[in-house]
Amino acid sequence: MICKGFFISFEGIDGSGKSTQTKLLRDQLEAAGHDVVLTREPGGSPGAEEIRALVLQGDPDRWSAHTEILLFTAARRDHLERTIQPALASGKIVICDRFADSTRMYQGLSRGDLRDCVDRLHKLMIGVEPDLTVLIDMDPTEGLSRALARNTVEERFEDFGEDLQVAMRAGFLSLAQEFPDRFVVIDGSGPIDSVAADIFSQIQARIAQTGRTGADPHACSAQ
Ligand code: ADP
Ligand code: TYD
Repeated sequence: MICKGFFISFEGIDGSGKSTQTKLLRDQLEAAGHDVVLTREPGGSPGAEEIRALVLQGDPDRWSAHTEILLFTAARRDHLERTIQPALASGKIVICDRFADSTRMYQGLSRGDLRDCVDRLHKLMIGVEPDLTVLIDMDPTEGLSRALARNTVEERFEDFGEDLQVAMRAGFLSLAQEFPDRFVVIDGSGPIDSVAADIFSQIQARIAQTGRTGADPHACSAQ
């Protein structure tokens, strides 16, 4: 018996509200009776969390773009094997704060055009896309000031400044056009509760369309 859960990723520039909104969505889906796993990248499994510390702390020039592609992909492979796939196989809804689209943007675009390299490694080592990707779209100046206000040691990409945020915002919007069936674009500029309500209604509609829900054991198909 294989149960197919539902895989949702959140994407957007730093400070766009992903961590805030993934938690609210988890709470709302659980209140509606779904079994939910909330996870994040880089990280989400013990080994991948160790790689997270390597890539997000220290000198911003610590790694080349190519080395970062390998590190983020290694972390993702471990996360997929140990956290995401087991949860989906038992019919749960997985909410992931960033996934492969972040590598397509940050490593694929920030220091030259390495998108093809990211995509080829993704196909070889990951081979999975989310069922749905929520892109929280946000003004880059506002996003950066929200992100810097947090003042954490994990400021790997915040350190590259506003130009990078502007390029990443444009890049995410063009990814949403490239994969219109998978992406939902949400305006992240409003109050937290209204952004959350917008996300929840769009996700309920998409889950209903697929007929696959973590709460429904009949969503499992015998194989
Ligand atoms: P991300 O995970 O995308 O980097 P966070 O969810 O950590 O973003 O939000 C960054 C900061 O902005 C946090 O301090 C959070 O409380 C705040 N924030 C999030 N959403 C909103 C919003 N809609 N309006 C105002 N502040 C927000
Ligand atoms: P995250 O903790 O989501 O940061 P934020 O809350 O500020 O949005 O991610 C940390 C940083 O890692 C972020 O600047 C984006 C970067 N990142 C990559 O460069 N490549 C990747 O594949 C992923 C998943 C994240």
